[in-house]
Amino acid sequence: MDTLSIRQPDDWHLHLRDGDALRAVLPHTATQFARAIVMPNLKPPVTTTALARAYRDRILAALPAGSLFTPLMTLYLTDRTDPAEIATARGSGFVHGCKLYPAGATTNSDSGVTDIRRLDAVLEAMADAGMPLLVHGEVTQPEVDVFDREARFIDEVLAPLRARVPRLRIVFEHVTTKAAVDFVRAQAEGVAATLTPQHLAMNRNALFTGGIRPHHYCLPVLKRERDRVALLEAVVGGDPRFFLGTDSAPHARHTKETTCGCAGIYSAHAALELYAAVFEQAGALPRLEAFASEFGPRFYGLPLNDARVMLRRESWTVPEEYPFGADRLVPLHAGQTLGWRFAGKAR
Ligand code: NCD
Ligand code: ZN
Ligand code: ZN
Repeated sequence: MDTLSIRQPDDWHLHLRDGDALRAVLPHTATQFARAIVMPNLKPPVTTTALARAYRDRILAALPAGSLFTPLMTLYLTDRTDPAEIATARGSGFVHGCKLYPAGATTNSDSGVTDIRRLDAVLEAMADAGMPLLVHGEVTQPEVDVFDREARFIDEVLAPLRARVPRLRIVFEHVTTKAAVDFVRAQAEGVAATLTPQHLAMNRNALFTGGIRPHHYCLPVLKRERDRVALLEAVVGGDPRFFLGTDSAPHARHTKETTCGCAGIYSAHAALELYAAVFEQAGALPRLEAFASEFGPRFYGLPLNDARVMLRRESWTVPEEYPFGADRLVPLHAGQTLGWRFAGKAR
């Protein structure tokens, strides 16, 4: 099989940034995907429907001419989120989720939530509105081992939250552990997870291959091989609760290659190619389409895309870097050869 044609996919977890950075990265995503859930962790964060509307307008203005890409916006929850904001967000038609960043857990999470138990009124309003909660699932106590932070979050935050507000729909974002896969599988309904290309393809050894690898550093950090295998089994098994979310998270080269480097891996330049390689290696290429293009819209209650896209079997070399405003950006697998190449819309 030398070409692969699938229904056009959506990216259910994406960082687009703003300004020059937005203009630099948006074409990559808008070429491959019809829609994307756009993360709200700007500086300052996107905390209200009004801010989301303005950000959405900036994204639409930055699209290449003729692009049909639709940004699906999210709100950033803080300790001060007003429960009344949820109905406004739902009424807008363009806000599709609210994001829980535990304060201090990841990039631009300083304004995040310090104690989710204080937000039950907001979570109830979300459950009433059918607005999903999107979760960065890591505890933040500095004494907790960084490799244990996702599993501890399940026990200490997510499971209790689920018990308090069982009607709330939840997307456990960028899951990295067998514990997270097992948690999602054990829920009756209303809980799903996104999976990144890096967590499906690499384990934590990739952080240290021949030396320290800042461009393999993201949060949650890469885990053990047995965790990667559990993620892979979840997606190749065709379980509709596990779907595509790249977490493509661009940072300027000099902010990653430094004494205290930023967390985030950029994958939008080759998102579908990276997932195709994962599925092919697992002998599950026929399962890619549902993972990439069907399970996400079904969870979010949105229509499937009508367009189709093609991938061609062709080796090509990922550029060493891309322009990123006044800076440069190092993409995942820079300088390496990939075996699939995105070939545009199919007729
Ligand atoms: C993301 C970013 O850079 O915004 N970084 C990351 O390592 N994944 C934030 C996030 O998704 O946690
Ligand atoms: Zn995150
Ligand atoms: Zn993210």
